[in-house]
Amino acid sequence: MTIKDQIESLRRELEQHNYNYYVLSAPTISDFDFDAKLRQLQELETAHPEFFDPNSPTQRVGSDIMNKSDFKKVVMTMISDQYKSKTSGFEQVAHVYPMLSLGNTYSEGEVQDFYERVRKGLNEEFELVCELKYDGTSISLTYEDGLLVRAVTRGDGEKGDDVTANVKTIRSIPLRLHGNYPKSFEIRGEILMPWSVFDELNKEREEQEEQLFANPRNAASGTLKLQNSATVASRKLDAYFYYLLGENLPSDLHSGNLEAAHSWGFKISDATKVCKTLEEVSAFINYWDIERKNLPVATDGIVLKVNSITQQRALGFTAKSPRWAIAYKFQAEKAVTRLNSVSYQVGRTGAVTPVANLDPVQLSGTTVKRASLHNADIIEALDLHIGDMVFVEKGGEIIPKITAVDKDARLLIGDKVQFIKNCPECGAALIRFEGEAAHYCPNENACPPQIKGKMEHFVSRKAMNIDGLGSETINLLYQNGLLHNIADIYTLKIPDLIRLERLGTKSAYNIQDGSEKSKEVPFERVVFALGIRFVGETIAKKLAYAFKNIEALERATFEELISVDEIGERIAQSVVAYFSDSQNTEMLNRLKEYGLQMSLSEAKLQAHGTALAGLSIVISGTFSQHSRDEYKSMIEMNGGKNAGSVSAKTSFILAGENMGPEKLKKAEKLGVRLLDEKTFLAMIQLEKQEENSTGTLF
Ligand code: IVH
Repeated sequence: MTIKDQIESLRRELEQHNYNYYVLSAPTISDFDFDAKLRQLQELETAHPEFFDPNSPTQRVGSDIMNKSDFKKVVMTMISDQYKSKTSGFEQVAHVYPMLSLGNTYSEGEVQDFYERVRKGLNEEFELVCELKYDGTSISLTYEDGLLVRAVTRGDGEKGDDVTANVKTIRSIPLRLHGNYPKSFEIRGEILMPWSVFDELNKEREEQEEQLFANPRNAASGTLKLQNSATVASRKLDAYFYYLLGENLPSDLHSGNLEAAHSWGFKISDATKVCKTLEEVSAFINYWDIERKNLPVATDGIVLKVNSITQQRALGFTAKSPRWAIAYKFQAEKAVTRLNSVSYQVGRTGAVTPVANLDPVQLSGTTVKRASLHNADIIEALDLHIGDMVFVEKGGEIIPKITAVDKDARLLIGDKVQFIKNCPECGAALIRFEGEAAHYCPNENACPPQIKGKMEHFVSRKAMNIDGLGSETINLLYQNGLLHNIADIYTLKIPDLIRLERLGTKSAYNIQDGSEKSKEVPFERVVFALGIRFVGETIAKKLAYAFKNIEALERATFEELISVDEIGERIAQSVVAYFSDSQNTEMLNRLKEYGLQMSLSEAKLQAHGTALAGLSIVISGTFSQHSRDEYKSMIEMNGGKNAGSVSAKTSFILAGENMGPEKLKKAEKLGVRLLDEKTFLAMIQLEKQEENSTGTLF
């Protein structure tokens, strides 16, 4: 077998396994064997870039693995961070068929009205297809010759973001179809984050005190807009499809088209039923209103569609939605209960969260005793009084929320809930930052939950990753006076640790090993680990790359800080405040003394290439390996200049598919060279490989 055949056969085999696993939920190979085959394919593709295929199963892992060299890893991380600051970072693409929404109904009476309208409008027999209304983010995929060529978000319905690279990481979406598909068509569906992935992701975010996603819908759409497709791949999104569009569709029935799409490799919901009567529709609604709670993904209603496409055409559209379809939304589950008190929790950053303590009540199968009240403004807007009967809703959210007060039930009015003025933990007067809804305790270095929270953050996986120091151990060491601040972690002595009743010898050594190892953790993660308010992982990296060492960061003025891309006033203020506190600088001096990485490594300092120094480059057309903005950034990172239009000064054009005809004409006239993306990538990589031949980057 030739290498090409070997590659092709591995691709087909892996596609089939992906389909079996993610669409049919019936795997026929172990994860281990699958990974081994995928690796084998990756190696062959790396060794033979001439057989690159944007629809290969290897492309599903996102940019990090696809670009194997260390150099690219650095570039990709930097690129992904840079783009988070941009408004979209994605190319906008016009929809061939606008993406309309559906009319909503909330009662079976309204469903009946819809049925009557259709009956009168058609004046002949008709069928309705009942489907689940998946609660995620909608996507439109274009396939040409059986290959996924484009994935676009809904956007404003007329145009959306081209998120093809991210969508390719979703395993249940076929990159290559099988069977008898039309040459060209669009298919629409919903991208979803399964509940299990959502719970896991939020748990991780909670550990990091990052803002939680309110529901899987927000998590799915947020994920789809990330700039690093490797992160998207790790989020394990899923997708169901429910609408086929194009010229030569296989059937005149919507249900027939869905069946055909299923046979080509798309995931179509099993909960799809053709109904002839309103009774059947009603039975579908009632069944799924209960049964949907057992589904792995969120649903918020059902969708009814006229089955015959000829009849759909006859009914047509209003300005906003089709007359041949409607959504019925499930009622969010509500309960009424009594508000007994409000307590306040203080987090690592000093943010104070109000929590309502309620009379226990059953809601969506769980007992609810507490509900988040978010902030002072929400308490005020609800006009909350102790003893009030309140409505609690779960909706798509995990944490129940209070949506209203039953004011009629107020007999003996209790005290109005007033947001506290002082920290419940240390008594300091609370402050509020301009434009922020949250109250904060400013007593960073003396408020116990903040001190302990800072330590927990410092040792956490994405920060210094010190094994053996969980929150309980930190609490124990804090209570026993062995830890006062982060720096004390590095002076803990084995005999002192062993003396503590609840800590074994093994744990003591673990802690010491862990803190020793953490001295290798790179500077950007040290900056993150410090727990400076508003400085998350991405911002920490930005600061580390902009200032290069802790001394420069310490000296940075407000103006210097805000001149860094993505660093706004709020962050700049917080950084300045952090370094002007002598307790912090003293602690940093100790950390320096103990040998933590306080500057960017040589390799990273040199990651900026010179392959394109002095060149003026124009980007034109659409690309398959990276987004346009990614290419722009690569040009900058390699010392080149992005130019908007072709001129005699243009060094070359980075040309994708469908390059603009005007640019092409001008290039021909001026004799400017065109380079395709493969050549371009090879060009910047070559330089790096030469540079790296003396050592690796990491
Ligand atoms: S059909 C022209 N079917 O609900 C009709 N939509 O408000 C196109 N959705 O934007 C939509 N499940 O994101 C359709 N089975 C389903 C659906 C569904 C969820 C979403 C979709 C759409 C919105 C309509």
